[in-house]
Amino acid sequence: MITPTLLALSALALLTAAELSSAPLIKDPGVYGPPLELVHLYYDEFPTGIAVSSTGRKFSNYPGGLDKNDTNNGSNGKYTIAELTGDDRETPFPSAEINSPPGGAINYTTYPPSGAGYANYFIGSQSIVIDPLDRAWVLDTGRVQTPNGTLVPASYGGPKLVGINLTTNAIFQTIVFPTTVAYSDSYLNDVRFDLRPHLSGIAGGKGVAYITDSSSEGRNGLIVADLGTGESWRHLDGSPTVHPVQQWLAYNWGMPLYGTNVGRPLSYLAFGSDGIALSADGATLYWKAVSSRYLYSIPTARLRDNTPNSELLAQGSINNHGQTGITDGMETDTNDFIYHGNLEQNAISFFNPANGSDTLFVRDPRINWVDTMSTTTNGWLYFTVNQLLFGPATFPGTDRRQRPFALFRVPLINNATKPLLC
Ligand SMILES: *[C@@H]1O[C@H](CO)[C@@H](O)[C@H](O)[C@H]1NC(C)=O
Ligand SMILES: *[C@@H]1O[C@H](CO)[C@@H](O)[C@H](O)[C@H]1NC(C)=O
Ligand SMILES: *[C@@H]1O[C@H](CO)[C@@H](O)[C@H](O)[C@H]1NC(C)=O
Ligand SMILES: *[C@@H]1O[C@H](CO)[C@@H](O)[C@H](O)[C@H]1NC(C)=O
Ligand SMILES: *[C@@H]1O[C@H](CO)[C@@H](O)[C@H](O)[C@H]1NC(C)=O
Ligand SMILES: *[C@@H]1O[C@H](CO)[C@@H](O)[C@H](O)[C@H]1NC(C)=O
Ligand SMILES: *[C@@H]1O[C@H](CO)[C@@H](O)[C@H](O)[C@H]1NC(C)=O
Repeated sequence: MITPTLLALSALALLTAAELSSAPLIKDPGVYGPPLELVHLYYDEFPTGIAVSSTGRKFSNYPGGLDKNDTNNGSNGKYTIAELTGDDRETPFPSAEINSPPGGAINYTTYPPSGAGYANYFIGSQSIVIDPLDRAWVLDTGRVQTPNGTLVPASYGGPKLVGINLTTNAIFQTIVFPTTVAYSDSYLNDVRFDLRPHLSGIAGGKGVAYITDSSSEGRNGLIVADLGTGESWRHLDGSPTVHPVQQWLAYNWGMPLYGTNVGRPLSYLAFGSDGIALSADGATLYWKAVSSRYLYSIPTARLRDNTPNSELLAQGSINNHGQTGITDGMETDTNDFIYHGNLEQNAISFFNPANGSDTLFVRDPRINWVDTMSTTTNGWLYFTVNQLLFGPATFPGTDRRQRPFALFRVPLINNATKPLLC
């Protein structure tokens, strides 16, 4: 007896090989959302951050802590902060001199070698951010890699927050973190500003900065700096929400990415609290560990509190918003959307606190590792794509990055802009 199944099978068998191989199957389109606009190509040093001022000036940072080839050795002209002065051109900022510590970024007279302890030079910056008054702030980890790829510990003077006036390009403030706030194996990663005067101490009134410590050695936490008094303190060091998830494995373009370390066996990558974003009203701080798929937030009042019970109250006030993919940098707009890379999807998504869910924003095969974002007062989301996980720190330990690295921009949803908390 001929059943319908047999009939179907015999019909299939009548397809020619050519018909079979060209069958019109649905496939991943690979692209989604508004087209990406290419803004800058990085041929020189390996970048991570991007900051765009209200007049359209653009700045990036190049961390010697992530790429030994970015480490200034006193005579190789490497810079850790630059202004993007042409489509493929970068100029050390605010000067070549500040980017070139005497004798280099490493102090070889200590054992083991350590980051040079200069408060008036940049050592290894992981971030540059424009605040709501259009001033630039450089966040220095004080750490870089040696020529064999070893990340040196920081010395006092290295880890700091440096404010630069963009009218004069002059440094107007330097907050050096004490060794009880930035440990020698901390890695100060990213920073956001709320300049509303009522937020900070009586001697202050200049607002606060919130900073992530993404240390691969495990010194993770959130740091608050009072821009008026210059005081700083830590919260959430003991919370799993700022630490890497154990045995975390990321995929990029389908490849699993294990971690390799100089002189150590193959392991898992372990990056802690890294991406950070303030809600549009400044009341909530969002963060993610890179080595985690969970998005967390906390009321900022709990972080600004540094009284005796404040750590208990802080740990009891964390919100878990569920999994939103793998993310490095994050940003906010006046929609109160929290934009974040979604690396395993070659995408950028946004979390909407109003409906508690994550939404796809843009997707493109040119997207690999979305490192850092910057929203602007004229309605753009800028973001760097820097192939971070194709570098020598991931299995098989060969450098698969190909210049140029890229800076893209895309318009914010609903013509939104950068929120200005001041
Ligand atoms: C090192 O950096 C220079 C630019 O500063 C770049 O041209 C070169 O390709 C880099 N080398 C490696 C191995 O990354
Ligand atoms: C610094 O690096 C440059 C370029 O790699 C090299 O020629 C020079 O010898 C180095 N200088 C020191 C002091 O290590
Ligand atoms: C290098 O380390 C030595 C020994 O601790 C110290 O005396 C010196 O000030 C350090 N130099 C810099 C630039 O950090
Ligand atoms: C930058 O410096 C100029 C000149 O001193 C000053 O007028 C201006 O207010 C400063 N800008 C900010 C945002 O502080
Ligand atoms: C790498 O270089 C550092 C600093 O020169 C040295 O202390 C360390 O032993 C070296 N590590 C390896 C695995 O070669
Ligand atoms: C959440 O809000 C965003 C922005 O309005 C919207 O695009 C998305 O579809 C919403 N998601 C859900 C699951 O309701
Ligand atoms: C955004 O602005 C453009 C140009 O001004 C306008 O055409 C468009 O309708 C606006 N979109 C929204 C969602 O407001």
